[in-house]
Amino acid sequence: MIVSNYLLTTSVLLVASATCSKINREQIVRQFNPHRNASSMDTPMQVGTGHMAFGADVTGLQTFLPFNILSDWCWHNSSLPTTPGQTEPSDFTGLNWFSHGRLVNYEQPNPAEADISQWMIGNPHRVNLGRVGLWFKGGDVSEDDLASKSQDLDLYTGIMSSSFWVNGHKVSVQTIAEPDSSTIAVKLESDALSSGDLGVFFDYPYMNATNKFEAPFVGNWDAVKNHTTSVKKSRSSAVITHNEDALTYYTTVNWEEQAAISDALPNSHRYVLQPKRSKTLSFTVTYSPQSEVHVRNYASIEQSSTAWWCDYWENGNFVDLTASGNSSAIELQRRIILSQYLLAVNSAGKWFPQESGLTDNGWYGKFHLEMYIFHSLHFLLWGHQDLLMRSLSHLYFDFLPTSYERAAKQGWDGAHWGKMSDPTGRSAPGEINSLLIWQQPHPLQFAEYLYRFNPSSRESLLHEWEEIVTATADFMASYAWWNASSGRYDLGPPMYTVAETTPPNSTRNPTFELAYWRFGLGLASQWKERLGKPVPAKWTHVMDNLAPLPHQSGAYALYEGALDTWTNPNITEDHPASLMINGWLPGPSIPGLNYSEEVFNKTVELTQQTWNFTYSFGWDFPLLAMTSARSMGDVEGAISWLLFDVFQFDDVGMPIGGSRVPTPYFPGSGSLLFAVAFLAGGWDGAPHSGPHFPTSWRAQVEGFHPML
Ligand SMILES: *[C@@H]1O[C@H](CO)[C@@H](O)[C@H](O)[C@H]1NC(C)=O
Ligand SMILES: *[C@@H]1O[C@H](CO)[C@@H](O)[C@H](O)[C@H]1NC(C)=O
Ligand SMILES: *[C@@H]1O[C@H](CO)[C@@H](O)[C@H](O)[C@H]1NC(C)=O
Ligand SMILES: *[C@@H]1O[C@H](CO)[C@@H](O)[C@H](O)[C@H]1NC(C)=O
Ligand SMILES: *[C@@H]1O[C@H](CO)[C@@H](O)[C@H](O)[C@H]1NC(C)=O
Ligand SMILES: *[C@@H]1O[C@H](CO)[C@@H](O)[C@H](O)[C@H]1NC(C)=O
Ligand SMILES: *[C@@H]1O[C@H](CO)[C@@H](O)[C@H](O)[C@H]1NC(C)=O
Ligand SMILES: *[C@@H]1O[C@H](CO)[C@@H](O)[C@H](O)[C@H]1NC(C)=O
Ligand SMILES: *[C@@H]1O[C@H](CO)[C@@H](O)[C@H](O)[C@H]1NC(C)=O
Ligand SMILES: *[C@@H]1O[C@H](CO)[C@@H](O)[C@H](O)[C@H]1NC(C)=O
Ligand SMILES: *[C@@H]1O[C@H](CO)[C@@H](O)[C@H](O)[C@H]1NC(C)=O
Repeated sequence: MIVSNYLLTTSVLLVASATCSKINREQIVRQFNPHRNASSMDTPMQVGTGHMAFGADVTGLQTFLPFNILSDWCWHNSSLPTTPGQTEPSDFTGLNWFSHGRLVNYEQPNPAEADISQWMIGNPHRVNLGRVGLWFKGGDVSEDDLASKSQDLDLYTGIMSSSFWVNGHKVSVQTIAEPDSSTIAVKLESDALSSGDLGVFFDYPYMNATNKFEAPFVGNWDAVKNHTTSVKKSRSSAVITHNEDALTYYTTVNWEEQAAISDALPNSHRYVLQPKRSKTLSFTVTYSPQSEVHVRNYASIEQSSTAWWCDYWENGNFVDLTASGNSSAIELQRRIILSQYLLAVNSAGKWFPQESGLTDNGWYGKFHLEMYIFHSLHFLLWGHQDLLMRSLSHLYFDFLPTSYERAAKQGWDGAHWGKMSDPTGRSAPGEINSLLIWQQPHPLQFAEYLYRFNPSSRESLLHEWEEIVTATADFMASYAWWNASSGRYDLGPPMYTVAETTPPNSTRNPTFELAYWRFGLGLASQWKERLGKPVPAKWTHVMDNLAPLPHQSGAYALYEGALDTWTNPNITEDHPASLMINGWLPGPSIPGLNYSEEVFNKTVELTQQTWNFTYSFGWDFPLLAMTSARSMGDVEGAISWLLFDVFQFDDVGMPIGGSRVPTPYFPGSGSLLFAVAFLAGGWDGAPHSGPHFPTSWRAQVEGFHPML
């Protein structure tokens, strides 16, 4: 574990008096301030606000490594293909697959429309807004030429402080993100500034949709001719306009000392800002779709960042596991604190982010609706509903029209929520994308938790969410297929389970999805009852007659017909989805599930014996932790899943992907906080109401509520 310098800035004192909790949160948070003495080639140190994240190398900027500046608002389309008949999104027709005897149209890449299919997958993609780095006169300085490198991130104020020596000069850099905007504020101090040896550069990459994963750096830095920039200068500011195909956005740079910005250096989009005489340079950089922006100065942004982060730490819920000094407890505390920081930076935007967060572009920067619950529900559970509502207040509402359309086209009722998404509400073509179903009940869980945690606004929530709840459940009920010969409703085929490795045309009635369908329809029915409205008969009929959970060897199989659940590596090297029914979901209390403790225990036993957890990743471990706690009453077991050896967080808290997905993998962080909230607040029917951590840890928790 990494415990770094205790860093105290004067500005903190202004707001710290707001503290009223018993736990000394400031001291605990700061205990885990990351420290680096060299850049990591894999992960940046970040500042940000959920709307924008800025990844820095050891200089506090992007001097040697072009880490990214990603936002929740800037997206780019490459030009459409010119292939005859494939020049418009409307030329994409997908594929028809037989689904219970009828052809259903799925948004899947069509080999006869390969170019437009691929365009739909890769566009729009999230834009790396640019690069801000230190400029050295003469140019040939590398990180190896710096001495005494030191970098600290003060989690309690959001201020990153970096310093080093170069050519006999000390350089110090403070980097801060302004809350609620896409602005960074920077303060440089060095003799090298006044001697003309040091400045700052701004640069721009070109985006195209060639790579599904662009990590750790996003965009093409060599394609100078494919895009244009221009600068408009004033005395103490400049606006750089960046045009990439149809996209235009602006960078406003404001500086406080006397300084001047250059034109673009030859054959580049690189602009250099240099002070005239001063040993300091304070400036702000704002990225925006508008050319006119109002920007506050460095000191004011330092103050607002300090106030914002102090409020974040002092006013949400809190867990203190440090009292015993147990090293596992301290490591878990480190993961909690750093995840809280990084999720506010990466996951709290208008749209929740790609699985790699606003750190780099996994999946072209698109977001996956089945992961939304792990990216973001923790904000509500930790007392930061405002951060969740930045996306939840509109996302399902915005996507309702395209989701109604998708369902109608496919011959189902209600709203069929998409999967790999962008702000247009489209779902990217893909076999798995179009056949995965477990994203479908999520809005019901979101709505239920809003209702549960907001006793004073229940009446309005019931009305606000009624259409989403109804549209969601209508789809679920009509998607379940009445099997006349067995007299029950089947899920699939074709479909993909949570474990995306089963043959879609023969995957029927997976354990997890059957349980989630019943759970979801139960929540939707309860919603109608609360509104005093009749529960649609179709919902009840489906709930009462969904296929039973499939068994194999006295345990819950992954899906009906998967007689090889415990031997097929395609299954045992993927998500242990059946265990999610009693842990994340409240198995025994799901209406009509006919849950059997004996069968579940056997499932746990066989999973332990046959699963190769080396291949598990991210949210698997927090979900296993909830299973241990809820179904086995095994708190020690839960903790060991949260600290399992292939579930790692690096020195700055970035969630390591593992063998299957790239780093960072933010559903790992979000689900960690989900599981910790579950242990801290307990759950309906828990054996006791206290927090569920090892008693020897003497855990203290503040603010949590029991979960479903
Ligand atoms: C830099 O940090 C690493 C570990 O993070 C440490 O092992 C090393 O000694 C440090 N080097 C210096 C020069 O401080
Ligand atoms: C990209 O193109 C799609 C389809 O034409 C359009 O709906 C979307 O608004 C465009 N997005 C951007 C950011 O240009
Ligand atoms: C599933 O069935 C459809 C026909 O309904 C077929 O086109 C498709 O290739 C099959 N998929 C797989 C993975 O076998
Ligand atoms: C995208 O950029 C890469 C270089 O990074 C290039 O190889 C590729 O051809 C480009 N794709 C398109 C569609 O222009
Ligand atoms: C830049 O444009 C050229 C010509 O259209 C194209 O071949 C190349 O792939 C583009 N580069 C990138 C990085 O997209
Ligand atoms: C730390 O706590 C864990 C979990 O309760 C326990 O297994 C371990 O033995 C403890 N370590 C020490 C050194 O007490
Ligand atoms: C109906 O259910 C039975 C039992 O699961 C299954 O074998 C059969 O294939 C189903 N019928 C159809 C047409 O899917
Ligand atoms: C595992 O999945 C692959 C790819 O779909 C398939 O070719 C293979 O037959 C499967 N193996 C087993 C044992 O089902
Ligand atoms: C309930 O489950 C048990 C064992 O899991 C099974 O024996 C029984 O037939 C099931 N009952 C119904 C009504 O499905
Ligand atoms: C589990 O998978 C790893 C590779 O990720 C492999 O090295 C190991 O042998 C496997 N273990 C078992 C028991 O199959
Ligand atoms: C299931 O396992 C739990 C935890 O080990 C145990 O307490 C319970 O008695 C078991 N139930 C059955 C029916 O075996």
